[in-house]
Amino acid sequence: MIEVFRRQLALCKVRPGEVVAVLSMGDSLRDYARAFLAAARQLDAQVVDVNLQGSSSAEDRLKEFGKNPLASDPESMAKLKQADMVIDLLVASFSEQEFEIRNAGARMLLVCEEFEILKRMAPTLELKRRTEASYERLAGAKRFRFANAAGTDITYEFDHQYRSLMEYGFVDEPGRWDHWPAGLVARLAMDGGVNGRVVMNRGDIVYPRMNFLNEPVEFVIAAGQVTSIRGGKEADDLKRWMDDYNDPRAYAVSHIGWGTHTGAEWTLKGIGMDGRSYYGNVLFSLGPNVEFGGTNDTACHLDLPMRDCDAWLDDEQIIANGRLLPKDLRAIGR
Ligand SMILES: [Fe+2]
Repeated sequence: MIEVFRRQLALCKVRPGEVVAVLSMGDSLRDYARAFLAAARQLDAQVVDVNLQGSSSAEDRLKEFGKNPLASDPESMAKLKQADMVIDLLVASFSEQEFEIRNAGARMLLVCEEFEILKRMAPTLELKRRTEASYERLAGAKRFRFANAAGTDITYEFDHQYRSLMEYGFVDEPGRWDHWPAGLVARLAMDGGVNGRVVMNRGDIVYPRMNFLNEPVEFVIAAGQVTSIRGGKEADDLKRWMDDYNDPRAYAVSHIGWGTHTGAEWTLKGIGMDGRSYYGNVLFSLGPNVEFGGTNDTACHLDLPMRDCDAWLDDEQIIANGRLLPKDLRAIGR
């Protein structure tokens, strides 16, 4: 583990004398904390172990996005803000405290996946290069359209109201945030700029419900809102799950983009970075958009990765049946 974490810190350009703070809570992921501290020491960094009292697990924390005990812990916040890099094992990411720490200049890496997955999806410079190329194309486009054999045909119109996002699994610049093990790009349409229908196919994944669909589920979308969800029992189950949040903003279409990680598998393992990052997927999402500068902070957040799609940016086809086509986006040998 120390060896794997040291390679990750080296990719994050941790230099001798830099301050690496490792943020954790209680016994949760303490093995990761100890290994990161040891790995950072091997790179001659100064280490700070910020271990908060408490007992909630990473899974618990993931369900409480945006809320964390740092809000009432100025002493720990001061330590984190003085660091050059923060390893977030607490899942303080996606909160006001995350922005505060990054605004102070620290780069921040969220790590809470299972070790087998971290290892298998350890990032590379090649992943960064391809993800950046994907990001530039997506951020520069006016339109994204995608389709699949189940009947999807939907268009996202872009303007420059919102920021785009890329995750390549490491943080090599001051103030940057990322999530190990991610590989994906994402963007929001302009307000009202999503129209068409998405038909998720059997075998596509529903996060965070963590299931594969056994039958197609259709989302009819007009002006950026899901107006109906059709299908069989699974469509009804999904709709009921969304309605339990009692928040009409759950029906807003959120980000769109695709996965870039060739190490990702189409499985339901861990917290689900595999399916979200799966190379050549289309990642369709409903619900919150604050990460992109929007105002929808509904707690109902669906990430819906789909395989075997076709996709176009403006008039160029970039994905054919789940294969990335442009040379700069394609992984070696894929
Ligand atoms: Fe999402």
